[in-house]
Amino acid sequence: MDIAIIGSGYVGLVTGVCLAHIGHRVICVDNNQEKIKRLRQAKIPIYEPGLDELVKKYLKSKRLSFSTSIKEATRKATVIFIAVGTPARQNGEADLTYVENVAREIALNMDSYKLIVEKSTVPAETGKRIERTIKLNLSKKFRKGNKITLDFDVASNPEFLREGSAIHDFMHPDRVVIGVESKKAEQIFREIYKPLKTHMIVTNISSAELIKHASNSFLATKISFINSIAQICDHVGADVLKVAEGMGFDKRIGRQFLDAGIGYGGSCFPKDVEAFIRLSEKSGYHFSLLNEVRNVNECQRISFVKLIEDKLWIIKGKKIGILGLAFKPNTDDMRNAPSIDLINMLQNEGALIKAYDPKAMPNTKKCLTKVTYCKDPYELAKGCDCLLLVTEWDEFKDLDFKMIRRLMKQPLVFDGRNLYHDKNLKELGFEYYGIGRGQI
Ligand code: UDX
Ligand code: UDX
Repeated sequence: MDIAIIGSGYVGLVTGVCLAHIGHRVICVDNNQEKIKRLRQAKIPIYEPGLDELVKKYLKSKRLSFSTSIKEATRKATVIFIAVGTPARQNGEADLTYVENVAREIALNMDSYKLIVEKSTVPAETGKRIERTIKLNLSKKFRKGNKITLDFDVASNPEFLREGSAIHDFMHPDRVVIGVESKKAEQIFREIYKPLKTHMIVTNISSAELIKHASNSFLATKISFINSIAQICDHVGADVLKVAEGMGFDKRIGRQFLDAGIGYGGSCFPKDVEAFIRLSEKSGYHFSLLNEVRNVNECQRISFVKLIEDKLWIIKGKKIGILGLAFKPNTDDMRNAPSIDLINMLQNEGALIKAYDPKAMPNTKKCLTKVTYCKDPYELAKGCDCLLLVTEWDEFKDLDFKMIRRLMKQPLVFDGRNLYHDKNLKELGFEYYGIGRGQI
């Protein structure tokens, strides 16, 4: 199939490269000229494990190409995925300006049948609006009075890719969801995804859009639920890790997304939960459960800072080392990273912040000031009054804590992701606090 992807960010680039990997000819478009120039030289703007090898391979075999021209992509491809960003507006709703612009430009350049697919996370009914925008902007030669003479379809095919394991998630999905309004569109999707041999859920566009919103909101709810349980654990002497294990063995519940910590971040959950709240309000339903999901998530960071304040006594002038900055491991993405809120709160109290992250430091420098960046965890530990584990990178698991103990000013570790739950840091002379371990 000839496929175009408009928007070559975290989602668009991974989707395009993986579609090339399963046999399609793909043209990835972006309006950022510098990004496209670099991508043509196989220079990847983001860190995503495995992505650069695939880009190199398919650029070389010419199954993958890059362009800044929506016109060129529209002419070449039969299927066009829209994967531009949908940032939050001030009131929390998704800003669909880029989606509308792209839809209009596709319409202006369409000259044969196209299947236009929403990949970006969008509110329900966006599909209908894209269809309308295309009808309104088609070239005059495809109109007879009120009738449109050019055949096209709009569809929804939400992504469920987790950053850091996005290629694996694409190649081994639990399911592929497609929202279509015609048999022809359904057939095209079946052909596109045939190599994945996966279960396909076929429904209408609005249901597909809602599946995405509902799935992300449900996962966020699971996280806030276990974080609430963690709060109780700390007060009754229970261990949230055992509670999650005990719950998770029940197949109806499942263990995934029951990791208590300093809350969820990233470009999706915070924004999608907020957008879903707004969407529900607009349709006349007050989704109070999701309001609480968001509140619990925010409180999680505040209570972590309160714990640090309690144990450090005075924060002003203390040197605090932050292990991990990205919103989750295996990515350089800092969008809505919990580390930003934590660092801001601690700096407001007068703390001196040192930080280290294997991949996210260049992006962090764009959003945080007055942070001393270190070249590894040992340089970070030097002279610190306490260490905060914020992102559970694999390389942090087996640090030499005897050496860290010697380097630190005070042996105090706050583990925001329970990474060191089995390391017995107390035996090495540390005062150690996890999340919901019943030890406060
Ligand atoms: C995606 C989804 O599209 C979004 O809906 C979801 O909520 C988060 O994930 P993502 O790929 O992470 O977005 O965003 P980003 O990395 O910012 O990529 C968007 C790309 O679209 C950027 O490269 C940007 O330059 C490009 N873009 C934006 C265009 O090509 N044209 C535009 O008009 C606007
Ligand atoms: C999410 C969805 O999982 C994915 O399907 C897609 O819709 C895009 O959004 P992503 O944001 O990349 O993926 O990462 P994810 O693994 O879902 O983690 C999101 C946040 O939740 C991270 O900050 C992570 O640390 C946090 N999290 C996750 C927890 O705090 N506890 C958990 O048990 C799981």
